[in-house]
This record gives sequence, structure tokens and C-alpha cells, in this order.
Amino acid sequence: MLLPLRQTFLSLLSLYLFAGGTAKGLERRLNNGLAITPPMGWNSYNHYSCSPNESIIHSNAQAVVDLGLQQSGYHFVTVDCGWTLPNRTAEGTLTWNPARFPSGYPALGDFLHERGLGFGVYSDGGVQMCMTGEPAQAGSLFHEQIDADTFASWGADLLKYDNCYSDAAQGYPDAAYDPDISPLGRYANMSNAVLATHRPILFQVCDWGVDFPSAWAPGVGNSWRITNDIIPSYRTISRILNQAVPQTSFAGPGRWLDLDMLEVGNNVFTIPEEQTHFSLWAIIKSPLVIGAALKDNYTSISQASLDILKNADVISYNQDSLGVAASFRRRWTEEGYEVWAGPLSGGRTVAAVINLKDEARTLTLDLPDVGLQKAGLVRDIWNEVTVKNVLTSYTAPVESHGTILLELWDTTVADSYDGRDSTTMRQTTTFSQVYGITSSSNYTATLSFEPQPKAATVAIGNIPYTLPASGKTLSIPHITLRAGDNNTISIDSPVPPTSLRITPPPPSFYPSTSFALVGNASHVECYTGLCQPVGSKISNLSPAGSASLSITAPSSTSGRKLVEVYFCNNDIAFSTSWTTGTNTRNMTIRVNDVTTRIEVPLSGRSSELFSPGLGWQDTGTFEVLVDGWVEGENVVVVGNAYGGEGLVNWGADFVGLGVRW
Ligand SMILES: *[C@@H]1O[C@H](CO)[C@@H](O)[C@H](O)[C@H]1NC(C)=O
Ligand SMILES: *[C@@H]1O[C@H](CO)[C@@H](O)[C@H](O)[C@H]1NC(C)=O
Ligand SMILES: *[C@@H]1O[C@H](CO)[C@@H](O)[C@H](O)[C@H]1NC(C)=O
Ligand SMILES: *[C@@H]1O[C@H](CO)[C@@H](O)[C@H](O)[C@H]1NC(C)=O
Ligand SMILES: *[C@@H]1O[C@H](CO)[C@@H](O)[C@H](O)[C@H]1NC(C)=O
Ligand SMILES: *[C@@H]1O[C@H](CO)[C@@H](O)[C@H](O)[C@H]1NC(C)=O
Ligand SMILES: *[C@@H]1O[C@H](CO)[C@@H](O)[C@H](O)[C@H]1NC(C)=O
Ligand SMILES: *[C@@H]1O[C@H](CO)[C@@H](O)[C@H](O)[C@H]1NC(C)=O
Repeated sequence: MLLPLRQTFLSLLSLYLFAGGTAKGLERRLNNGLAITPPMGWNSYNHYSCSPNESIIHSNAQAVVDLGLQQSGYHFVTVDCGWTLPNRTAEGTLTWNPARFPSGYPALGDFLHERGLGFGVYSDGGVQMCMTGEPAQAGSLFHEQIDADTFASWGADLLKYDNCYSDAAQGYPDAAYDPDISPLGRYANMSNAVLATHRPILFQVCDWGVDFPSAWAPGVGNSWRITNDIIPSYRTISRILNQAVPQTSFAGPGRWLDLDMLEVGNNVFTIPEEQTHFSLWAIIKSPLVIGAALKDNYTSISQASLDILKNADVISYNQDSLGVAASFRRRWTEEGYEVWAGPLSGGRTVAAVINLKDEARTLTLDLPDVGLQKAGLVRDIWNEVTVKNVLTSYTAPVESHGTILLELWDTTVADSYDGRDSTTMRQTTTFSQVYGITSSSNYTATLSFEPQPKAATVAIGNIPYTLPASGKTLSIPHITLRAGDNNTISIDSPVPPTSLRITPPPPSFYPSTSFALVGNASHVECYTGLCQPVGSKISNLSPAGSASLSITAPSSTSGRKLVEVYFCNNDIAFSTSWTTGTNTRNMTIRVNDVTTRIEVPLSGRSSELFSPGLGWQDTGTFEVLVDGWVEGENVVVVGNAYGGEGLVNWGADFVGLGVRW
């Protein structure tokens, strides 16, 4: 359905209400009916830069068909920068460079349409397109309608809209990462112009993540780049993922986070690295746009890379009808791995465990880290293994920088154990592989009996408990579990319990305001509603500044505790994205003599340019097992103790800590 141009948020809202929209449907999005699942295709830029031409496009488009990629779902073929003549025509339109595209753009559209492919065109919301050197090529700024009409008349099905030379008023900065005004106005103008053509044209916002487009781009585009460009170097993957962390929940049908075009097949990553790249882009529901030379006179894609791009399971996660992006779950910083997961249709879950280390090894996914306790079936996609009845943990081999990608079926929620997975010897029922998120003697175990037994006395560790006369469930406090151990719980009972549920101890929260400032650290009051849940934070953590608190342990279990760190980090690597930028900051948590380092992602969920706290007052949380806790007095120091050895001396800002005692 095509809507009148310049529609307001209100009219969208009433449309969704009329359609009986769900809460999700009420979220603002460009309602052009396109990109209900993430767009898939091919784009010339990653391999051919701003030098595409007709034979290159013909040859690669034909390869999309011949290699079976079209069959796999890759549909759009987009010619990126470098297609135009520098100047507009006498009629004021953009036109193709006839030396590069001798048959012209309409004929190129026909060539693609004859093959059932979508025609993707490229322009730029600035005074010039992204071309370095002379001659400058005109951009679409202030020419939106004539350009949109031109593209529509050529049969365009997709428009990628770039952001170079955007700040006309200030001359010609190629890349303005801190413009005086938001890019929103420029992108909205082109979005409206495209809608006014009445041709369904998928609109891709490409402002490199400037001004936190997740907050506004869903209203104008079907996808939006969330970061600066991907580069042909493995570190680019974690930089982009660290920027995606706080914003995955902004994605949904018709509105996708664009993690940038794929490098799979460009021979810049190893095969395991390509698997990591493709897996994560797919499950975060990024557009999947191949950036490799599939076929030209010099290059053809390797079979191994092609197999990755055509993996039907991974593509199905990207195109899943539920349309929920996977999110960041857990990072084990020193151990060098991290976990992402998300829901799929059919009650399934997809989970990825990324090996960040430079060596092959085995890694374990603890199902509770993705909210599950058991899976009736686990499909390990890259290892090509299927395993039944996986309880609590799944362990598998993984190459350096590779990913264990799992599809989990028939799952039960974390902390619930089925009696059928226990063993019973005489009157003793034993549950093993009971997961402890923290080391504590303050777990509660809830046993269920079905049918309701006659008065029963149950014993755990020789301590007897009596089932209430009217009850089918019995809650037993002060159960001990240790983090990381294969814990067992044995119950002596005349009838075996049908299930066991574990409730971990709740976190005790210690706000940064209760910490003492040490050295150069400073206290920062935040704007109303920010730095949740405290309203202020401690900044300037470095080897010369930290925050210290003495805590008397309220429990007697020593060792490793799960700590939830509340932090702020919006140190976005725009200008260092080509080199050392990571989109992370380190923090250290010292408990008595033991120091634990964590590398936290970005937390900003608002504009780094114009929001009240510039995204530096949006809180993120990071769960980590911290060792060193003892009975009695504990000295806790939050800082960035090793800052001098890292890239950035400063740590993330500190809002508070939750400890599961
Ligand atoms: C391959 O080379 C031939 C002969 O020079 C040329 O006509 C053709 O355009 C080239 N194809 C590509 C994709 O570069
Ligand atoms: C293109 O436009 C520029 C600036 O208006 C002008 O200097 C140049 O001569 C034009 N080039 C051609 C080939 O017309
Ligand atoms: C496109 O570029 C390729 C590689 O440089 C070249 O072989 C081919 O002739 C070019 N085709 C056109 C139409 O310019
Ligand atoms: C958007 O278009 C309107 C109407 O043509 C124009 O006045 C305005 O300056 C444009 N905004 C931007 C940011 O280009
Ligand atoms: C956990 O412990 C139980 C009982 O000691 C044992 O049977 C089981 O194999 C162990 N599982 C793992 C994953 O170590
Ligand atoms: C910390 O403060 C001291 C004394 O004011 C100053 O000399 C030093 O440069 C500061 N260090 C940092 C990292 O800011
Ligand atoms: C132990 O757990 C109970 C609830 O399960 C909670 O109310 C209490 O605060 C916890 N004690 C400690 C020391 O964490
Ligand atoms: C975090 O710490 C590690 C280990 O010291 C270091 O290699 C890395 O550069 C640090 N990251 C930043 C952003 O400083």
C-alpha cells in the first residue's frame, strides 16, 4: 500500500490502530510495505570501490543467478558510488557515465529485471557523492524529488542513500561525524520524495550511524547503517558488534539495523572468520548484501565462501518470520568468548558463541546464559552436528575467531529441571548439572510433586523438610550452588519429585554514590531519568582514579560471585574505525586482592550529538563472575587499573554494582 507523502507519525499510528496493530506495530516505521524480512542482495562497493561499470555489473548479476544465490534469496543488485557523470544534465537530472555504462541505466534495470533481480541505485544526501578527487560528482541534496523520479523512471527497486559532503553550509567536509544539524531532515526529504514516486523502492539510510539513527531512521527508511564502514580486517567485526549491542531492540519487520555489506568472499577473512561474520550479521537481522566479486575477468568467489553465503539454515535465521534481532548476552573477557542469542519462530532459539582468541579450542555454551535450561534438540550448524536432549551446557570445538552457531528446539526455561532428567536410587533422587550463576548458599530449591503425595518428608543434605499437607510444592531455602561447577542436588523422598526449580539469590545493589572517590575520579550528576537506576555516575576512571567501597558480606559463601556492572560508554569509533577503534572501554573490578577486567560495549541509546547526555548517560549492564570475595569485610575498587596498557586510558563510567551473594 502506498501512502500519501509527508505522512505524520499520527497518521501512521492511526493506521496501525485501525489494523489492530500489536504493541510492536505501534512502533514508528516507514510504512511502504517493503523489507518485511531483511533485504538480501549484492553491491559493488566492497570489491570495486567507486569504480563499477556495466560489464562488472552484468557479470556479477549473472553470477548471482548462475551460482544459485538468487535461489537462496539474494535479490537486489546495487551499483554503488561511481556510476554518474559529475554534472547534472541540462534538465537538471543525474545521469549515468556513458563510458562506464554504455547501454545506460534503464537498460541496466532491464537486464536485472529480465533475470528476476531487483535494481538497486545509489545516491548521496549531500552536495556531492562519496568520490575522492576530481571531478566532484553531484549529490541529491536539494534535488530529492527530481532524482527520486528519475530513479523510479529507470525502474529502481532500492535506493541506498549515502552521507558524504553532507554539510553544504560548511563547504565540503567529506565525512562529517559531528554536523551542526541532524541528518534526519535530509533523509526524510529523500524518503518522502521516494514515496511520492508511487513506485515501491526500498530505502536504505546510510549515514554511518551519525546521530544515533536507530532513534529516528525507522520512520524514514527500511534499514539504516549503525556504524562507520566495515573494513577488510577482522577487528572490524567486533567493532561493529560492540556498536550494535545497545540498539538491537530497535530492529523489526520493515526496519532493520544495517551492519554494512559483507566481506565474505573477498579473501580478507579466514573461513571461520567469514562464518562468524555471516552468522552474526544474519541473526542480528542485518541486510545480507554480498560485497565480493562473484565473477569477473580476474576473480571468482571460492566454493568455501559461496557455501557460507548459501547456508540455508543461517539465511533462514535472518529471514525468520518472527523478525527479532539477536542480542548480546554475555562476554567472558579474559576467557575470550562471547554469546549472542535471539528467538526464532516456532519457539526456537538461535545462539552464537564467538571465539575471540587466536587459537582453536573447545567452548561451552551454558544454556542459562541464553535463558534456557534444556533443549530437546540442538543443531550445531558449522560443525554439522545434531544432538538430542542437551541439559544445561553444550560443548563443541571452534576454530580461531570462529563461531559455534546453534539452533535450539523444544527448550525449557533456565533454572527448571525435569524429574525425568534426574536419577533415582531407592529413595534418593539426584539432579546433576545444576547450574549456579553465582557461588552462594542462598539459592531456593522448589520441588514439585505430581500427583500430590500423602504427607511427605523430604531431605536435602540430611536436613528434613515436610511437605505441607495441602501442597504439591515445597520450597527449600539456603541451598548451596557454586558458579561453574557441575552441582548436584540430592533429595531423599518417598516419592520422587517431578521437577526442581532453582531461584538464585537476588542481586544486592550498590550505587556508585555509596563509593568513595579515589584520585582523579569524579562524580557526575545526570539529567532527569538518565544514569539509571542511580541518577549519577562516577567518571574519569583510569589508573589515576577509581571508586572504592568496603562491603561486609551478608552471606558466608566465599569465592566467585555474579556481579552486574551498570556502566555508561558512548565512545563511538567514527574516526578511528579504519584503524584502532573498538567501540569498547575497559573497566576493572578489584575485590580484595583479585582484579577482574571487563571490556564493555557501547551503551548509548540516544544521540551522541544532540541528546541531553549525548548517550553518555544511557546505562548498560554487563554480567561478570568476579572472584576474590571472602566472608566479612570486602574492599571493592572499580576503576581502569590497566588503562595505561590499553588503547584508551579512561574506563567506562560507573553507575553501580549488583552482587548476587
Ligand atoms: C572481460 O574482458 C573482456 C575483454 O577485454 C571485456 O570485454 C569484458 O568487459 C571484461 N569483463 C569484465 C567483467 O570485466
Ligand atoms: C561541471 O560543473 C562545474 C561546476 O559548475 C563546471 O565548472 C564544469 O565545467 C562542469 N563540467 C562539465 C563537463 O560541464
Ligand atoms: C569494466 O572494467 C573491467 C576491468 O577493469 C574492464 O575489463 C572492462 O572493459 C570495463 N568495462 C567497461 C564497460 O568499462
Ligand atoms: C527538506 O525539504 C524542505 C522542502 O523542500 C526544505 O525546505 C528543507 O531545507 C529540506 N531540509 C533539509 C535538511 O535538507
Ligand atoms: C556432572 O556430575 C554427574 C554426577 O557426578 C555426572 O554423572 C555427569 O556426567 C557430570 N556432567 C558433566 C557435564 O560434567
Ligand atoms: C590526576 O591528577 C593529578 C593531580 O591533579 C594530575 O597531575 C594528573 O595528570 C591527573 N591524571 C590524569 C590521568 O588525569
Ligand atoms: C537470600 O535470598 C532471599 C530471597 O530468596 C533474599 O530475600 C535475601 O535477601 C537473600 N540474602 C542474601 C544475603 O542475599
Ligand atoms: C582493554 O584492555 C586490553 C588488555 O589490556 C587492551 O589490549 C585493550 O587495548 C584495552 N581496550 C581499550 C579500549 O583500551
